[in-house]
Amino acid sequence: MRLTKRNVALLSGGSSGEREISLKGGEQACAALDPSKYAVFRYDPQTDLGRLVADAANIDVALVILHGVPGEDGTVQGLLDLLKIPYQCTGVMGSAIAMNKLVSKYFYEKAGIPVPEYVGLQRDEKVDAARIIDRLGLPLVIKPASAGSSLGLSIVRSADAFAPALEAAFACDDTAVAEEYLSGTEITGGVLGNRELQTLPIVEIVPGGDHEFFDFEAKYSAGETDEICPARIDPKFAQTAGDLAAAAHRALFCSGCSRTDMIISSGRIRVLETNTIPGMTPVSLLPLAAGAAGMNYAQLLDRLIELAMEKRKDQMTTDWQNPSFIREQEPL
Ligand SMILES: Nc1ncnc2c1ncn2[C@@H]1O[C@H](COP(=O)(O)OP(=O)(O)O)[C@@H](O)[C@H]1O
Ligand SMILES: [Mg+2]
Repeated sequence: MRLTKRNVALLSGGSSGEREISLKGGEQACAALDPSKYAVFRYDPQTDLGRLVADAANIDVALVILHGVPGEDGTVQGLLDLLKIPYQCTGVMGSAIAMNKLVSKYFYEKAGIPVPEYVGLQRDEKVDAARIIDRLGLPLVIKPASAGSSLGLSIVRSADAFAPALEAAFACDDTAVAEEYLSGTEITGGVLGNRELQTLPIVEIVPGGDHEFFDFEAKYSAGETDEICPARIDPKFAQTAGDLAAAAHRALFCSGCSRTDMIISSGRIRVLETNTIPGMTPVSLLPLAAGAAGMNYAQLLDRLIELAMEKRKDQMTTDWQNPSFIREQEPL
């Protein structure tokens, strides 16, 4: 039995558009962490980074519950690396890659992971809306490259709606992505692990009738969305979705945990994005999936902390994952 408690730095809050969700996750994780195992110290990166640096020598592990930019994008991970504090989420490189939906697609495609048809769009470059509509069809989806919680995301159903949707995406980021609209069953796949990966049961997401997609309200207002785990899909799809979630975790150099969003459309699964710090309230999707695998919320937090400590023990670099497409390249 451990005689001393682990000192845990719990980071939540921050300054992204997902601050409130992050604070909620932090609050609930703090309440659920077993006080006989952990002494929890809370830090809000918006105000407390100086204190974190000052306390670093006495911290054993960090639980980072930050969503969006900055926080999920590698910046906080870099600071923790400098402070030699292990943490439960992906390292600097993987976090930065996964935060950018356009860059992620490059790595997904390298790893043979299917994605919707897409076009990358840059602010200040001339955008030929007609050509993009021609290529992707209508409706199409426009989203900022680096955001989360569906912020800045629109479904474009007519040519007139293209420009305002692009403006909404550029309000969040200088880079946007236009994607083919996939109509079908939305699912998400959680993964836990560093070297050995555990795929959690797939969750099916059914936004309520008032929501045309899994938008901000549908995500965070109680009762707006049905989240069903295990998903009511053919076991073959469930297996493939789990494999794709694990492949995405590897392709984006993830460690600790991840959650990959997908859509089953016309009999095919396409990957939308991978979250390196998935929502962490007890009713969020990753905890829900962990619950279906027999791991309650407190046990999930224990596991995440264990995985963080394991990375340190193994002296892994935080971006240790080596996707097969890198290994398989012919020597020059
Ligand atoms: N290509 C697409 N086709 C259909 N719906 C989409 C598509 N891309 C995103 N969506 C909808 O928007 C939601 C958010 O998109 P996602 O890419 O997961 O970004 P984020 O969750 O980071 O905001 C998805 O859960 C889905 O409901
Ligand atoms: Mg998503």
